[in-house]
Amino acid sequence: MNMNEQIIQIFLDHPNQYISGEKLSEELNCSRTAIWKHIQTLKKKGYMFESTPRLGYRMLKTPPEPLDVSRIISALNTRCMGLKIKYLQEVDSTQTMAAEMVKKGEEEGTVIIAEQQTDGRGRLGRKWFSPPGTGIWMSMILKPQIPLQFIHQLTLLISVAICRVIKRMLDVDVGIKWPNDLYINGKKVCGILLESSAEDERVKHVIAGVGISVNLLQKDIPEDLKDKMTSLCIETGIKCNREELLISLFKEWEELYMLYLSEGFAPIRILWEALSICLHCPIQVHTHQGIVKGKAYGMDEMGALMIRDEEGKEHKIYSGDVSL
Ligand code: BTN
Repeated sequence: MNMNEQIIQIFLDHPNQYISGEKLSEELNCSRTAIWKHIQTLKKKGYMFESTPRLGYRMLKTPPEPLDVSRIISALNTRCMGLKIKYLQEVDSTQTMAAEMVKKGEEEGTVIIAEQQTDGRGRLGRKWFSPPGTGIWMSMILKPQIPLQFIHQLTLLISVAICRVIKRMLDVDVGIKWPNDLYINGKKVCGILLESSAEDERVKHVIAGVGISVNLLQKDIPEDLKDKMTSLCIETGIKCNREELLISLFKEWEELYMLYLSEGFAPIRILWEALSICLHCPIQVHTHQGIVKGKAYGMDEMGALMIRDEEGKEHKIYSGDVSL
C-alpha cells in the first residue's frame, strides 16, 4: 500500500474518529507536514476530511465508487440494451449527449450514463437534480417501429421495468404515480423523460432519459426538495450496488420491450395497473385543459388514465401531472 492508501485504511479502521497528525506521522513514520500534504491530495480525489485543532483529522466521506462499465456489459445477455455504454464523469445532460449521438447514426440500445449532470432536465421544463456518484442518470437510445401516437406507452413500459427491478432487488414498497414517476413512502425516487423525433407520423428515434436517486443521503438533498424526493438508500437503509441495478434494469427493460413489440401494449397495461399507486383513490390531474378531480379506475388500451370525476363523468387523460 502506498502512503495515501495507508492513511485511508487507518481512517476506515477508525470510523468517525479523530486521529491526530502526530499519531498518523508516528504510525506512518513521516513528518506531520507530509501527512498534511497527503490529506490535501486525498481531498482532491474526493475524500472529505474535517480538521479540528488539538483533535486532528476525521474522515467524513469517501468518494463514490465509479461504475465498472466493462463488468456491466459482460454480465448482460441482452440482444441490444446496454451493450454499448458511453460513460462520462460529468455532462450537462445525458439527453443532449444522446441526441448528438443519434444525429451521427448511433444504434438502438446504446446508453449514455453520467456520474453527474450539470443541467439535468425533467418533465415539463423542470430541472433534474443529479449530484455526483449517487444516482443513475442515463439516456437510452431506442428506435421502435411504432406510430407516433403510441410513444406514451413506452414511458409506461420503462416505469414498469424499473419498478419491478427495484421491488425485486430491494423488497421495498415502490409504486408508479401516473404516468411514470416512481414513488416510495410518498416521495419521488425516479423520473423518466422521453424525447423523440418522428417522420410521417412514425417514430424515428426515442431518447429515454431515466433518473434514479440511488445512494443519496438525507443531507445530500437540497432543502426545497426534502419533502418531495427520496432515494433508495434513504428508504431501505442499504447502500445499493448501482452496477447490479443497471444490469437487472437492462435485462428487464429488454424483456418488456420485446414483449411489447411482439404482443402490443396489453401485457404492459396489466403490469402497470398492478404497480400503480394512483388507482381507486382520490386524485387531481393537472392537464392542458384544466384540473380534473376524481378517482382513477384504470388505464385504457392506449395507455390513457381513466378517471371518473366528482359528477360521475368519465375522462381519458394522456398527459398531465397527478397530485394524490
Ligand atoms: C422527470 O421529470 O420526472 C423526468 C426526469 C428525468 C431525468 C433524467 S436523468 C438522465 C436524463 N438526462 C436528463 O437531463 N434527464 C434525464
